[in-house]
Amino acid sequence: MKFLAVENYEKMSRDAANVISAQVIMKPNSVLGLATGSSPLGTYKQLIKWYEKGDVDFSKVTSVNLDEYVGLDGSNEQSYRYFMDNNFFNHINIKKENTFVPNGCADDLAAEGENYDKRIKELGGIDLQLLGIGLDGHIGFNEPDRYFVKSTHVVDLHESTIKANSRFFANEDEVPKQAITMGMVSIMQAKKILLIANGEAKMEILEKAFYGPITPEIPASILQLHPDITVIYSKK
Ligand code: F6R
Repeated sequence: MKFLAVENYEKMSRDAANVISAQVIMKPNSVLGLATGSSPLGTYKQLIKWYEKGDVDFSKVTSVNLDEYVGLDGSNEQSYRYFMDNNFFNHINIKKENTFVPNGCADDLAAEGENYDKRIKELGGIDLQLLGIGLDGHIGFNEPDRYFVKSTHVVDLHESTIKANSRFFANEDEVPKQAITMGMVSIMQAKKILLIANGEAKMEILEKAFYGPITPEIPASILQLHPDITVIYSKK
């Protein structure tokens, strides 16, 4: 594992964008695993700037997002599909039909999960997976549990996650209580993983996840077993 401590959010974002650009330059038809949330926003902004300058071309890239709220479709401003379109995809030349986000409105969410994993497999797996980390150690929406869940599945969000994510909603009651998330197999089979985190509040969980025991109670701790993971952390 490479652990890079950097001075601020801007540097974290630039470094992460550099890693992603390098991936796309070296393999133009890369499959990128992407995340939402506050952590990757700066990374996406930086990538958009470099795309506009002509430095990076996403026309052959395919993306698979980690997760989506159950019950929110892409027209809902709080959905992760909306987030990705508005903060990234609409500003670069990726083909929309090559961007995948789990469908949180599927009639059969179990089948949606199975198909999502099948699609990732058919794409040849993820070349580079970008991750954030929740304060409770979740990655994607794999919440602390008694076991690791392997496949894409529906989860009940934990109270702390609902609270943390309520900052994006009018109030806590509006936060969906369930999500559909990529499971640990697709994440762990990614050829490379890049985890970004910032702020003092994340320090304790990073320490537990990367230097403590590997346990499903801290889902990110499984990443210790990944052969090619880089963590970029900024305290500010
Ligand atoms: C989002 C996701 C989540 C976030 C995590 C951290 O797609 O998978 O695991 O990465 O909740 O969120 P932020 O970056 O907002 O602190």
